[in-house]
Amino acid sequence: MNWITTFFFSSVGKKLTMSITGLFLSLFLVVHMAGNLVLLNPNGAQAFNEYAHFMTTFPPIKVASIGTMAGIILHIIQAIGITMMNQKSRPVKYAHTKPNASSSWASRNMGILGVIILFFIVIHLRSFWYEMKFGSVPFVDYGSGEIKDLHTIVLAAFKNPLYVLGYLVALGAISFHLLHGFQSAFRSLGAVHSKYTPIIKVLGYAIAIGVPFGFALQPIAAYLIANGII
Ligand code: HEM
Repeated sequence: MNWITTFFFSSVGKKLTMSITGLFLSLFLVVHMAGNLVLLNPNGAQAFNEYAHFMTTFPPIKVASIGTMAGIILHIIQAIGITMMNQKSRPVKYAHTKPNASSSWASRNMGILGVIILFFIVIHLRSFWYEMKFGSVPFVDYGSGEIKDLHTIVLAAFKNPLYVLGYLVALGAISFHLLHGFQSAFRSLGAVHSKYTPIIKVLGYAIAIGVPFGFALQPIAAYLIANGII
């Protein structure tokens, strides 16, 4: 084992990689949410398809995409490692604990929230990312060559109200996960300071509420557009 693997599997290494990948994935979520807001426009098919085409063909974004996938995998591996480490060090639960006294609901349920999010990501990638890369998405031409019409696939998926509901549940889990995770990542990195911690706290709340809210508007709008309501 060289020093990199030793560090990676140490408790400090696990915490650091979880924090760094968690913050990177938070940034990904902000960009992904903002970019997809074009779905709110009932006449936004062309803008969405051109955006999706750019995101899947522009080389620096393709590199960032590989980084995102690697970040998700590393985050999960380290989460499992930390959970196993904690269970080993405290195999028997304390008999008299008042869970609400010192910790938030989100902080005590990060594991289950993470499992819900993982379940969501697998279904989400299968529906859109896999379809865009390897599926049979129809082509459309807006005058500068054929590109994939992912907008039609997205609307077809969100036409189903159960699919929309599933997204809203997953976004609730993402909100709670971020509510604890964002601030916790800064603490693990040692970024605790009387001046900056309140700013991190406000930023954490803004991301944990604003990002899932912005995302939630998208399947709702797509549902309304796909069913001819707007
Ligand atoms: C709720 C509204 C959302 C919509 C409408 C949406 C839509 C899409 C679409 C159309 C793609 C495929 C485009 C492409 O291949 O570049 C995609 C990719 C992806 N989405 Fe979402 N998404 C949503 C929320 C989320 C959330 C909440 C997460 C994470 C928790 C997420 C994670 C991803 C990932 C990791 C990819 C692959 C990106 C890459 O290739 O780098 N998405 N999404």
